[in-house]
Amino acid sequence: MSVSIKTPQDIEKMRIAGRLTGEVLDYITPFVKAGVTTNELDKLCHDYIVDMQQGIPAPLNYAPQGHTPYPKSICTSINHQVCHGVPGDKALKNGDIVNLDVTVIKNGYHGDSSRMFYVGEPSIQARRLCEATWQSLWHGIRAVKPGAYLGDIGHAIQSFVEPLGYSVVREFCGHGIGLHFHEAPQVLHYGRPKTGLRLEAGMIFTIEPMINAGKTGIKQLGDGWTVVTKDHSLSAQYEHTILVTDTGFEVLTASDGSPPPPAL
Ligand code: MF3
Ligand code: CO
Ligand code: CO
Repeated sequence: MSVSIKTPQDIEKMRIAGRLTGEVLDYITPFVKAGVTTNELDKLCHDYIVDMQQGIPAPLNYAPQGHTPYPKSICTSINHQVCHGVPGDKALKNGDIVNLDVTVIKNGYHGDSSRMFYVGEPSIQARRLCEATWQSLWHGIRAVKPGAYLGDIGHAIQSFVEPLGYSVVREFCGHGIGLHFHEAPQVLHYGRPKTGLRLEAGMIFTIEPMINAGKTGIKQLGDGWTVVTKDHSLSAQYEHTILVTDTGFEVLTASDGSPPPPAL
């Protein structure tokens, strides 16, 4: 599959889908507290997307090859869960860290973003992991410009987190996005400078590093979706949808409540 260059009309619609996605994460933030179940967070997000945004939650019934249809509208990945955690009736508890991953379809176009949330007061180790993961996303984002390479993005992320003693998950990556949820190219969160696809203005893809406090290994649970660290270490992830512009990048999933870009 070749990598599409979005038209100005596509880009305008991707800005709308991206902003709505960020706004779902803003909306849900005050509800992420000890005692709430991930099913309740899922329902709140579902109803907000459908009723307030007239959008479609892309994960619901999403069925890539080899997977059973995803049963919920968002992904909720707690503590040692890496990604694709399926909402359920377990309540969040003080000290948890949880990733909420939201994908909104509006006028056929997709926005995809995720953030970490603190439930009460997580350990200093848990907060450090989340902060480093947020910084690693921005190291990746700041490598984006026409003429740069996908390998530059992966290298920027990997070379930031590994000296901190963390590891990069290899099995899942960022992805092109537009009229489809997952398009070419694959955006690896590790790599070597000046390798891989050369970036051009008009490309749109996600960057979504999954960073483990321990070893890189993962396994999938019996529900067919939830991915956890093999060593049960904590894992964190942040995701933005990014446009390559003539001069660098534009973050399409930014919203009023997005955490501010870190000073790096
Ligand atoms: N939102 C995830 C991503 O960033 C994909 C979730 S697929 C689902 O690519 F089916 F689990 F929702
Ligand atoms: Co994504
Ligand atoms: Co996502």
